[in-house]
Amino acid sequence: MLAAIGTSHAKTILLGEHAVVYGEPAIAIPISTIRLRAEITPQPGGQQTVTSAFYNGALAAAAHTNFAGVATLIRQLLVTFDAQDQGFNLNIISDLPPERGMGSSAATAVAIVRAFYNAFATDLPHAVLLRWADVSERQIHGNPSGIDAATVSATRPQWLIRGNQPQNLAMPKNGVLVIADTGVQGQTKLAVQAVAARYHADVQARQEIARIGVVTRQAAVAMAENDLVTLGRCMNSDQQNLVALGVSTPQIDAMVQAGLKADALGVKLTGSGMGGCVIALTPDGATAQKVAAAMARAGAIQIWQHDFSTAEAD
Ligand code: MEV
Repeated sequence: MLAAIGTSHAKTILLGEHAVVYGEPAIAIPISTIRLRAEITPQPGGQQTVTSAFYNGALAAAAHTNFAGVATLIRQLLVTFDAQDQGFNLNIISDLPPERGMGSSAATAVAIVRAFYNAFATDLPHAVLLRWADVSERQIHGNPSGIDAATVSATRPQWLIRGNQPQNLAMPKNGVLVIADTGVQGQTKLAVQAVAARYHADVQARQEIARIGVVTRQAAVAMAENDLVTLGRCMNSDQQNLVALGVSTPQIDAMVQAGLKADALGVKLTGSGMGGCVIALTPDGATAQKVAAAMARAGAIQIWQHDFSTAEAD
């Protein structure tokens, strides 16, 4: 095993969360300025340890902690490389707030898989990376669509229909996305289960999911045409569908209203909802500042701005 690093970054889902679990498309944006890094340092003596903000200790003791899903992933990676007895420390350094709909668990998985493949000097095709990320995502979230892992490992916006390879979309040429943290942990597993219960019991919920699919397809066209006004309208309509599915909260609703009053083109929750972050599409930096200030007054504890015109693309 060599000393090695693996990296990833945050994501926001622009449209299509929840519906993507049921085969509708989703569009997500990589946020490459909010980063996560996994560092592997080989250790003599066979001890396998983890240091991070969310788990510190022996890999073997992680079974009943919030690191259990990632620990399963690491154990399976070690079996693949026939390295179960090799000692190492895995250090995870993350700028991503956990459980805020920014893809923290998928970003952790992606960076770790990349680090282990680098440590064993092995090529890692993207489809293989996504299959590995699914190991921990399945244990943590139950029924992941794969949109999070696809986006935290990509440099361009992603279009995903479950079961298919994710596709790159063109980055909008301008506009600024404001990402505002409610300060409340989103509960992905719970939210996905709550939507599943409604989906199976209630025809209206199935109609909401189908409507999200229609709006997401319209949004993809608007994005390709760099039509931010239509894209914003699609986001607003998506938010109404997400409210109807029961995953918004009074605090999210208040931040959405604050963003709209401050002239955002579209505002919605992002990710699982029931907490997490709210995103607002704005036409320019001045409007983004106004929207960010309004959302801070409505209770956001942290705000990021993602300027499409300067966003990284490979
Ligand atoms: C979570 O970031 C997005 C959801 O659609 C779940 C998933 O796609 O796995 C809520």
